[in-house]
Amino acid sequence: MFVRVVGSLCQRVPSVLTRRSVMTKPNVVFVLGGPGAGKGTQCSKIVETYKCTHLSAGDLLREERCRAESKDGQLIDAYIKEGKIVPVEITINLLRKAMEETMQKDSSKSCFLIDGFPRNEDNLHGWTRVMDGKAKVKFVLFFDCGTEVCINRCLERGKSSGRTDDNRESLEKRIQTYQQSTRPIIQLYEKQGKVRTVDASRPVDEVFADVMDLLNKEGFLLN
Ligand code: ADP
Ligand code: C5P
Ligand code: MG
Repeated sequence: MFVRVVGSLCQRVPSVLTRRSVMTKPNVVFVLGGPGAGKGTQCSKIVETYKCTHLSAGDLLREERCRAESKDGQLIDAYIKEGKIVPVEITINLLRKAMEETMQKDSSKSCFLIDGFPRNEDNLHGWTRVMDGKAKVKFVLFFDCGTEVCINRCLERGKSSGRTDDNRESLEKRIQTYQQSTRPIIQLYEKQGKVRTVDASRPVDEVFADVMDLLNKEGFLLN
């Protein structure tokens, strides 16, 4: 029997993601772009139209930060405020759990938009270590948007989001992290011909029209 090791937790139950004979191997699209590029907005629209599940690494981390029993809450909180990338051991377990729960509830749900991941080399290595062979990365959906537009959108979002990182100080750090750590990951996938770029600086519906063209070409199934 497959023994799954999750951090310090050792489970004897075979993971949904490892029961390959009975479950479909999930297809994954990594969704990347600067803070405020519109990843979440576009993913919400995608799941309304296509048979896909949206998992935002940032949302999962924020949820975990608020979970009373979490041992990682304080660390996550500090990393988010500093615009730094949380160690992947935390993030990959949240992502894997969310994927497993989705597929356990409905085994036909095997297409995932993983938003805001992988954001640096550590994220990428963690994914490879844990998910290689268990999920297929189809491509990276890259929302390309200039820094000024990104910052202004986040500041605007900050008026109502309640997020601790939608302020100018955190944003400067987030943009730096994006440029230093995330752009090289996008470039790495570009070299493999796996990046699909959309100009995200335009109005939401124009961006989505391009997204739809792209997903239709990729053979994504409509709801
Ligand atoms: P991300 O998930 O990439 O950080 P969001 O989808 O949360 O970005 O969008 C950031 C903010 O910008 C939100 O307030 C959202 O409503 C707004 N927004 C998203 N896309 C656009 C767009 N194409 N044009 C103008 N505002 C947008
Ligand atoms: O994608 P989002 O803007 O919601 O991410 C917010 C923050 O969550 C990031 O700035 C980072 O601190 C944290 N995060 C992370 N690792 C990821 C995704 C998000 O540490 N893969
Ligand atoms: Mg987001």
